[in-house]
Amino acid sequence: MNPFAPALLQTLARQHGTPLWVYDAATIRQRIAELRAFDTIRFAQKANSNTHLLRLMREQGVVVDAVSRGEILRALAAGYTAAPDAQGASGIVFTADLFDAATLATVVQHRVPVNAGSIDMLHQLGAVSPGHPVWLRINPGFGHGHSNKTNTGGEHSKHGIWHTELPAALAAVAQHGLQLVGLHMHIGSGVDYGHLQQVCSAMVDLVKSCGADMQAISAGGGLSIPYREGEAPIDTAHYFSLWDAARREIAAHLGHAVHLEIEPGRYLVAEAGVLLTEVRATKPMGGNRFTLVDAGFSDLMRPSMYGAFHGMSLIPADQTPRATVETVVAGPLCESGDVFTQAEGGVVLTRELPEARVGDLLVLHDAGAYGASMSSNYNTRPLAAEVLVDGDAQRLIRRRQTVDELLALENT
Ligand code: LLP
Repeated sequence: MNPFAPALLQTLARQHGTPLWVYDAATIRQRIAELRAFDTIRFAQKANSNTHLLRLMREQGVVVDAVSRGEILRALAAGYTAAPDAQGASGIVFTADLFDAATLATVVQHRVPVNAGSIDMLHQLGAVSPGHPVWLRINPGFGHGHSNKTNTGGEHSKHGIWHTELPAALAAVAQHGLQLVGLHMHIGSGVDYGHLQQVCSAMVDLVKSCGADMQAISAGGGLSIPYREGEAPIDTAHYFSLWDAARREIAAHLGHAVHLEIEPGRYLVAEAGVLLTEVRATKPMGGNRFTLVDAGFSDLMRPSMYGAFHGMSLIPADQTPRATVETVVAGPLCESGDVFTQAEGGVVLTRELPEARVGDLLVLHDAGAYGASMSSNYNTRPLAAEVLVDGDAQRLIRRRQTVDELLALENT
């Protein structure tokens, strides 16, 4: 489960300092291999958009999704183009619910297919780029996620075109002569099989009832990973079989083959990454014992944002025996919510770990997705460095930001 040997992490911490993101290329390749049954794997790069990882994806034949102008430029920098690959799938698709002017201009310039989450987007795109390829992202009226904040379906979500608006969206596509590629659904992050069957059925019903022809459907992302010990990994063959059945029914209805895309973020990179931190202080607080490390929610936001669970392990700096203790693990930020052991709503929990001492390394596991990509400069903390381990080779793939770089932005 853990591809990172403690001795290697100690070496990397000495070389590059902490906090440090460390990724394992073999794990990413393995996760890609598990989804090969799909015609196209489209990486939702919001999970981790480091250009070196995007290049690794490209070498593996994985295409990308972009959700901002910045992510389009990252994909281009990693060597992707919007042109269709051998399978007919575009190297980049832009998914959003709105355009700002600069992003619309970039989408048009590079002819990046647009996965539209609103009818306004279709009008704005159609007015300047007739014939542009589009997907329609449909909100089927229900959703599911590991947290309310990652549920992207239903009437409380801002995402997608409401399912009953599909005829109006198709009319906008026709009005502007846009080229319909297919329908897309992503109902949330952390989806279970029960909901999956419901999404597949909703996709089949929509395609059958809408009267439009199309080449492709997209299953979206949302595949979960086992963050806690004992949680079962997703059965990707079963996942594929449900979508494949939906695709076959749609192909039979349309009278031609239909291309099936999947759009995972977390599944491809979460288990491939750790956040390496150093223990800098320990202290009792009444009945609680605090272990304070040099990474905070400015680095890994998921526990503070969603009450998300990340496995932890301690790499002691010396050989002295360590008792097992219950401890709160917290960071350096000047904010009480800067705690890695917490439940949704900010309830502070404890974790059973070997007793930590200053100088030990504490590893936060399964942090490759929505870790570095959600980091901020809060408390004027520079972004941490990133290292990619590939077999025996280790490469710095992002250097540590400096405070000077942050201050330079204000030299106006
Ligand atoms: N496609 C679309 C349209 C999405 O909005 C997302 C995620 C994905 C694909 C990829 O979802 P995944 O396979 O990674 O679950 N920051 C949260 C997750 C937010 C996901 C947002 N959209 C977290 O740390 O759990």
